Order: sequence, then C-alpha cells, then structure tokens
Amino acid sequence: MKNPFSFGVAVTGDSFCNRVQELSDLKKAVESSRKFFIFGERRLGKTSLLKKLMASLPQDDYIPVYIDIWKCISEDDFIRVCANAFALACETKTDKILSFAKEFFSFISPSITIDEAGKPVVVFGVIPKNHKTTLLEDVLSIPAKIAQKYPQKQVVVIFDEFPQIRSFESDRAERVLRSVIQHHEEVAYIFCGSRKHMIREMFLNKTSPLYRSAAHYPVGYISINHWMPFIKEKFSNGGKTISDECIEKIYSETEGHPFYTQMLCSVCYEISSKDLKEPLVVDEALEILFQRETHAFLSEWEALSSNEKKMVLALAKEKEIESPYSAEIIQRHSLPPASTVQRTIKKLTDTDIIDRNEYGRYHITDKFFSRWIVKKMGSGN
Ligand SMILES: Nc1ncnc2c1ncn2[C@@H]1O[C@H](COP(=O)(O)OP(=O)(O)OP(=O)(O)O)[C@@H](O)[C@H]1O
Ligand SMILES: [Mg+2]
Repeated sequence: MKNPFSFGVAVTGDSFCNRVQELSDLKKAVESSRKFFIFGERRLGKTSLLKKLMASLPQDDYIPVYIDIWKCISEDDFIRVCANAFALACETKTDKILSFAKEFFSFISPSITIDEAGKPVVVFGVIPKNHKTTLLEDVLSIPAKIAQKYPQKQVVVIFDEFPQIRSFESDRAERVLRSVIQHHEEVAYIFCGSRKHMIREMFLNKTSPLYRSAAHYPVGYISINHWMPFIKEKFSNGGKTISDECIEKIYSETEGHPFYTQMLCSVCYEISSKDLKEPLVVDEALEILFQRETHAFLSEWEALSSNEKKMVLALAKEKEIESPYSAEIIQRHSLPPASTVQRTIKKLTDTDIIDRNEYGRYHITDKFFSRWIVKKMGSGN
C-alpha cells in the first residue's frame, strides 16, 4: 500500500483535511464579489485551500480563474500568464479558446499550442514596449468583460504567489491592477501569498498601489480535533492503526502545521510495522524528518549573514524574545550593538524569516527551522 500521507504539493480529495470554516468564509466573500488578501506561513495549505474553493464552486454559477504568478519574472510574463488563464477559464475546446483569445486579445496575436501534458496553451506574439500600460489595462480588464458576457455567472480571479509582482521591473502592474479592479464591482479577487510581511505592506502601507484595496484573511493551522479522525482513517486505509496518544504527540510537535503534520505522519506510517501505540516512535520519526529537511534548512541557514545567524540562533534558543535590543539579550548571545541588531531584525522580518506574535514577541516563523538550528548550531554556547 502506498504511503497515504502526502506533502510537497497542493492536496485535494481525501488528502485534504478540514478547512470547513475557511471554505465557508471564502465562499461568502466570493459570492459578494469581495476583494481580499489571503496570507499565511509557508506550506500552510493556502494553495490547497484555494484549489478546494475553486473545485467547490458549481460550474454553472461560477467562472474561477486561477493564476499562479510564481514563475513570472517580468510584466510580459504576467500579461501572458493572465491572458492565458482568462482564455482557459472560459473555454475548454481548442477552437473556442482561440476565438475567445482573438475576441479579447487580438492585440497580442494569439495562437494555440498543446503542452507536454496535452493541454491547450494560448501563446502570444511580441508585446510592444511602448504599449505596456495599455496592454496591462486591456488584459486586466478582461474579468469584467467576462462578467458582462456571462452575467448569470460569478467571476472569481485568484492570484497565487501574488508578492512575486514586486519582483517585476516596476510597480506598473500593481498600479494598473488597482486602477482597473476598483471598477470591477461584479468580480471577486483573491490575492494569496506566504510573504506575510510583504502582503501586509501591500494593503497597509499608504504609498503602496494596492493600499486598502482589499480586506485580509489570515490562514492558520489545523486543530487536533480535525487531524485525529483524518490521521486514524489514513492509517486504517493502509491496514494499520495509530493510538490517540501518538496523534496527540504528533500534534504537540507540529502544532497542526499542515505540511509538517503530513510529513511526520508519513514517516510514522513508514516506520511503524502495524499498530503504532508507542509515542516514542514519533520521536524516532521526528529525527528522520529533521534529517530529510536538513538540506533545505542548511541552504536557508547559509543564505544568512553572520549577524543574521547570531540573531536567528538567539531567537531559536530563547524560542521568543520581547526586546532583542536589550543589553541583557545582547550580552547573553554576544550580539552586535543595538543599532545593528535593529537593522538585522528589520531585514529578517522583511524576509519573513522571523515574525512577531500577538504579544509583540519575536520568533522564527518556521518552528521546525528554529528547532533544527538549536539541534545543529546551538551546541557549545
Ligand atoms: N487542508 C489540508 N489537509 C491536509 N494537508 C494539507 C492541507 N493543506 C495543506 N496540507 C499539507 O501542506 C502541504 C503544503 O500545502 P500547500 O502547497 O497548499 O501550502 P501553501 O501554503 O500554498 O504553500 P506555499 O507557501 O509553499 O505556497 C501539502 O503538501 C500538504 O502536505
Ligand atoms: Mg502555495
């Protein structure tokens, strides 16, 4: 039997646990054509949630458009990816996709090819440099045109990995998006990303083009009462059992973080013979998880400057720190002067490596990264 736990890619169907409340909230927001930002830590299940939301919307009543802009490194990429997504969301047959593309974006000479997976893809001609703003406006106006063309349907546009828009050559795409969507009262927009700091900046900073253009919706962990039946069922489907005690132990380690919970369960399943009763096995699985994640954690660690490493190590050891600039903390962890600590904290916060909790205390965002740092780098101090 294949390991019933999956991690690494967005999950659907039986691999998707709970999110009932979130789906209901999002559905209501979509029904009333609201615009909002969804954010949450990395690998928390945002994409899975959005895909589940899309799958749950009746085809007769909705036109969902999912646009992942992760791979877009320029405005041209963004224009192409959006235009392609709009065409494919409205039509499925190749000839109809092409006539849709010709109707809506004849200005970038569309044609159709078939990708490796056998799916149609709209390709576009060269994007003229001096017409970029107009082109962005034209392409980003399509959702409202679709809404007009299909008045009985609700159009929902989802931009996943939205903070990637900040890596383009200018903030033009963000500005055009704002000016265009504010007139799209009949279209729902969801902007999603894990760069919590950047997303907050996008809607809270007065100088940001999307300032207060949308509400925000943070996604959290999944609680144990949802994981308990989910994990039990997965074990039982594979002809194994797991005790409540072991699930509680798994939960106490992951706090319900979806990726780490699935990964830890997967290792527990892999190493348990038939019946997993002894919570000690979870400790063994945890060791394996850390070994398997070492490569990723090490690259993250190595990308830090020496002052950042010192700060991150201090945070990992303390778990959380209220005043990183205090003389006591600086002395205890041999940190640089307070002004340098201040700059380091800002940089680490801007890049979402650290965060502040509701009590104003700093901590490392990824708790497993934090624990790995203590294990690997914390000795001898
Ligand atoms: N509702 C869920 N039920 C069970 N597992 C989940 C759920 N959501 C996410 N996961 C687990 O978390 C992993 C990451 O999910 P997903 O890719 O949706 O997260 P994400 O927040 O979009 O990540 P990223 O920050 O990398 O974009 C999945 O591979 C799966 O193991
Ligand atoms: Mg994602």
